[in-house]
Amino acid sequence: MRPFQGSVGACRADGNGQQNLKVKNNMSQSRIVVEGGISLAGKVGISGSKNAVLPLLAATVLTDAPCLVSSVPGLKDVEVMSEILRNLGSEVHFDAEAGEIRTLATDIATSEAPAHLVKSMRASVVCMGPMLARTGAASFPLPGGCAIGERPIDLHIKGFMALGADIEVKSDDSGDGFVEARCKKLKGAEVYLDFASVGATQNIMMAASLAEGFTIIENAAQEPEVVDLANFLRKMGARIKGAGTDVIKIKGVEKLHGAEHHVIPDRIEAGTYMLAAAISRGNVLIDNMVPDHVVPITAKLRETGVRISEENGGVRVKADEALLRMTDIKTLPYPGFPTDIQPQFMAFLSTVNGPSAVIETVFENRFMHVAELNKMNANIIDDGRRAIVKGNAKLKGAKVRATDLRAGAALVIAGLAAEGTTEVSDIYHIDRGYEDIVGKLRSLGASIERIDT
Ligand code: UD1
Repeated sequence: MRPFQGSVGACRADGNGQQNLKVKNNMSQSRIVVEGGISLAGKVGISGSKNAVLPLLAATVLTDAPCLVSSVPGLKDVEVMSEILRNLGSEVHFDAEAGEIRTLATDIATSEAPAHLVKSMRASVVCMGPMLARTGAASFPLPGGCAIGERPIDLHIKGFMALGADIEVKSDDSGDGFVEARCKKLKGAEVYLDFASVGATQNIMMAASLAEGFTIIENAAQEPEVVDLANFLRKMGARIKGAGTDVIKIKGVEKLHGAEHHVIPDRIEAGTYMLAAAISRGNVLIDNMVPDHVVPITAKLRETGVRISEENGGVRVKADEALLRMTDIKTLPYPGFPTDIQPQFMAFLSTVNGPSAVIETVFENRFMHVAELNKMNANIIDDGRRAIVKGNAKLKGAKVRATDLRAGAALVIAGLAAEGTTEVSDIYHIDRGYEDIVGKLRSLGASIERIDT
């Protein structure tokens, strides 16, 4: 691979990149085209976390006072969440240049979430807890999102019922399901989650913040995004202990007030650039990230021979072809290996001495990228919840389709290592979760462009 010699250092999407987002996302034929074979080099900055900012925005509905959220990434999902909140009656102003969102939910106009928006983004289900707590009612279509599994919301519902809400699952005129939740005043309760669901933990934590009395969430999710939400809620006056452990205790308060909050850096975006550096046999400094949030990614990359060191608060990733070898990965809730990095890691494993096993335990249908990677000459066998990556593949450019958000990222980084041209279609998935991926990779020397037709 040719080392990149040019200038480096884009740390945020520029204002234009963010302003153009709306236009770009409406173009369903858009593609990302990568010419492979260049080792990435330089420094890249990580944006605010998508998975942290969405529940933070939902939480602003819990108060009638103004809130300010900063370090907001310019992403399609952020636009959708802002629009959902507007539909509910909140004023939402997104200053894309400054990466700031101001909200004011003086009155909540409706308890009915806008179906077309909610169905397009599963994370919107986290509006349900705040709406229920604030207004005593929430009517929500069953949510959509990536097609990576069934993704039910039974644990969210179990939590609301424990807090005293009446729940009905109904069908609308077109036969689509929706959930109707009602309560007079939520009451604190003990909730045991059968699985440490991130969204259910966040939803129940927000609802319980305004409930009467104590709530205990057992087997709670421990993800940094749960901790970030708890920190924001505490700034709003909530009384929460234990976020970041598997037992969260909440003492409900009468009212929450406005607050300001800076979103944590996106650990999944950081992990994606770590893998981009590794697969391209590059030398990249990943800046504005929290190294503690990517411990499992760092550990597994080190097992493959990739060298990783902390540098000025960031992480340097160096990959030397001669040192690389296989490893196995198994996805688990935090602090286990993140399912959201599994596709990108699999793309990398296909290029090193194998075989490696990849076991997916969080979602039941998260190997859709296998068929696409195989079009690029990866040699991977999909065996249900386990994939065997034969390794040593000389990836070749191909026309491939982003089947979901992280699968799309995996294909883009596979394109960096492939001989020839890779064309990734259906990139609206990628727009949901990566701020200016093309600009950032280009700043590291990649030959990559976005084509909007
Ligand atoms: C969040 C992340 C997503 C990540 C996932 C797991 C956001 C916006 N998205 O999604 O990027 O991949 O965590 O780390 O933060 N489950 C149930 N019943 C429920 C809820 C979940 O069975 O009521 C199951 C799901 O089907 C899935 C597993 O639990 O198999 C994990 O889901 P969950 O942790 O809830 O993921 P999300 O919050 O949707």
